[in-house]
Amino acid sequence: MCGIVGYVGPNQAAPFLLEGLTKLEYRGYDSAGIAVMDGSEIKIEKSVGRLGALQTKLEQNMLQGTIGIGHTRWATHGRPSDVNSHPHTDCSGKFVVVHNGIIENYLELKEKLIERGHVFLSETDTEVVAHMMEEYYSGDFEAAVKKVLAEISGSYSLVFLSENDPDKIICSKQDNPLVIGLGNGENFIASDIPAIINRTRRTYILSDGEMAVITKDSVWVMNRQGVPVTKKVFEVNWDAEAAEKGGYEHFMIKEIYEQPKAIRDTMMSRLAKDDSHIIFDELKWTKEDVAAINKIAIVACGTAYHAGVVGKYYIERMARIPVEVDIASEFRYRSPLIDENTLMIVISQSGETSDTLAALKEAKRLGARTLAITNVVGSSVSREADQVIYTWAGPEIAVASTKAYTTQLISVCLLATYLGDLRETLPADEMQTIIKGLRQLPMQAHELLENVEPIKTFAELYGFKEDVFFIGRSLDYAVALEGALKLKEISYIHAEAYAAGELKHGTLALIIEGVPVIALATQLDVYEKTLSNIKEVKARDAIVIGIAFANDDKICKYVDHIICIPETSKFLAPVLAVIPLQLLAYYAAVTRGCDVDKPRNLAKSVTVE
Ligand code: AGP
Repeated sequence: MCGIVGYVGPNQAAPFLLEGLTKLEYRGYDSAGIAVMDGSEIKIEKSVGRLGALQTKLEQNMLQGTIGIGHTRWATHGRPSDVNSHPHTDCSGKFVVVHNGIIENYLELKEKLIERGHVFLSETDTEVVAHMMEEYYSGDFEAAVKKVLAEISGSYSLVFLSENDPDKIICSKQDNPLVIGLGNGENFIASDIPAIINRTRRTYILSDGEMAVITKDSVWVMNRQGVPVTKKVFEVNWDAEAAEKGGYEHFMIKEIYEQPKAIRDTMMSRLAKDDSHIIFDELKWTKEDVAAINKIAIVACGTAYHAGVVGKYYIERMARIPVEVDIASEFRYRSPLIDENTLMIVISQSGETSDTLAALKEAKRLGARTLAITNVVGSSVSREADQVIYTWAGPEIAVASTKAYTTQLISVCLLATYLGDLRETLPADEMQTIIKGLRQLPMQAHELLENVEPIKTFAELYGFKEDVFFIGRSLDYAVALEGALKLKEISYIHAEAYAAGELKHGTLALIIEGVPVIALATQLDVYEKTLSNIKEVKARDAIVIGIAFANDDKICKYVDHIICIPETSKFLAPVLAVIPLQLLAYYAAVTRGCDVDKPRNLAKSVTVE
């Protein structure tokens, strides 16, 4: 995720901006830039790459002035480059903006602005905001910002400078963090507390829908309509490390809690307003192109592979195209049957996993069309594939993948729906139901995360067991695979996932008194069969924790404990069902005193074979 800093006060702004951006480096970024006002003119310096590259430019041309804003960019719209780096300006260069998040309606806004003669330099969604300021400004900086905020939709923290008001910074936020640091005769702005913790511990944490007008001596907070808001000072008492994790104990739990936003960011701009279809501007496919695909091969590793298992189910059910799913390290050594009518989909959070990249190259060599689903703009797989769908989860720092997985599920669901529509295999009413269900997911994920106490208790009760089994049928089985991997990799508990119907073909021998079995029962077309499997393990005195919909009052009779998830369609259940499993793994690892964010022997990105 991008980082934002801002300064207004008596001192030179640039040194603080650089210091603040350095403190945000841990969040990951691909480019950086600052804008400083020298009293009458705003000057900008920016550069792709590490902060060192920006620093080198500044050594030759240090920006002078006591008010400024800065940004580290994690690319979403437009690849990493000097021109796509923030800050962005309007045509006149008088309005400057930095932004975190996604402006969902930027394409339509951009078209209108181009018609009105605005010239765009970058491929970013952010640049529209600067041009809108130019369009709406008529002598009142604050009024222009309000007009812009009323027209944009999406998630953002935005910080504005205007040459016409050389002593002010204006900022606002929606679904992205923004903090104001209160100093003596100076004030600071940051997307995250670590950037300002060395300068002040007195802060205002902005809430969604609020905006602030900041000078060196004052901070006025109001809502977007201009109604004043009284803020309480939040005294930060975290140390620097805790501040990086936003007050959470580990990056993993922070990222688990970021899922509602990550899911929203990944899908909202891709859902038609009337729920009638999926918008994939990035896929330049015609009906004929899609009709020519006679097979899809999904290839990935680890958690991304588990998202692929769900993807197979989605695509086969919605688009009626046969799908094979392979582990990347197996795929390229089995002489795969791939040709120009095959669509090869690779899924990779980092976009750098060596086996996945090699499999992609092999598929290309065999003539397949290729599509990458990845979280990192400009990553190796994104450059190698013909087409790319980005998951907009923001940087994932914990080794255990969480928000990348749920956004991969969203991406494969959108893709399957899109293909089903083009191939006319998905009836319009079913498509609408899926899209309506997607829209509810961020709120439902948020609801789930509000009630974690029972999950903590189960983790404490069973966190010292040697073996845990995960069972489920259909999509529940796919989620069980991911639940078992999560538990293994961070808590070091031996965990196995089984298709529930497969138990009696061998594994049932391992089910003895007291063995925990996590049973997923969200797939109603196989519900009764799953219940029979639950009875089988209960008959061997296993301890069963059921994962089921909140309205399921039948399952309670057959399980020892139950974790409820909000009701949704069978297709979308995996997105919600995995969250308790992530939490279970997390709290089990904490209970056992494991190094949650850096589990032994594992790397975040596996760039060797
Ligand atoms: C999951 O928690 C793992 N850390 C791992 O399985 C990961 O998903 C796998 O290495 C693939 O990584 P990628 O998505 O970056 O390609």
